[in-house]
Amino acid sequence: MEYLEFMWPMRHFLVTCGEIGGKSNIIALSFCMPVSKEPPLIACAVGKKAYSCKLIRSTKEFIINVPLEKLKPQIYYCGYHSGYQVDKFKETGLTPQHARKLKAPIIGECVAHMECKVRMEIETGDKNLFIGEVIEAYADEALVKGKKKVEYAKGDFPGKIYATRFKEE
Ligand SMILES: Cc1cc2nc3c(=O)[nH]c(=O)nc-3n(C[C@H](O)[C@H](O)[C@H](O)COP(=O)(O)O)c2cc1C
Repeated sequence: MEYLEFMWPMRHFLVTCGEIGGKSNIIALSFCMPVSKEPPLIACAVGKKAYSCKLIRSTKEFIINVPLEKLKPQIYYCGYHSGYQVDKFKETGLTPQHARKLKAPIIGECVAHMECKVRMEIETGDKNLFIGEVIEAYADEALVKGKKKVEYAKGDFPGKIYATRFKEE
């Protein structure tokens, strides 16, 4: 049995990278975890062939956006398609907005945002682990007060998502 079977549920995140008004992208990520409180660090494992991996490596920043369950179709779209082929903001209708500190966009429809600067990059296996320092974090008031609940990925998506085809431009 694949060890991942024992890791569910995991949260869904929509991670943005690139530059607002320039090349920007959204990737669906579940392999995200806090790895330090002081300094505040989060680790994200990003497929080596993903367009996002290339963008994050060059800009050294990314933003973790927290979606609610109602964005499931957009989460799956971003998880099944590559920015090498499509403009995911255009295709999903998600709204890019200026972040507070970074050049990458935040997603207007998401309820919390963590702006991260890459402090370390570790080659793991089929992924690169980007460890980002959270330099700014903010959320909708309702989420902070516990009135909105986020949903969890329950491991019910097919394994083929990891086989998304990437074609270098
Ligand atoms: C719910 C969900 C979670 C995912 N989690 C991850 C993840 O943690 N790491 C990863 O490399 N890919 C993950 N994927 C797959 C990527 O989102 C997918 O390969 C995407 O097409 C890459 O896009 P890009 O080439 O535009 O960067 C996930 C997909 C879905 C639907």
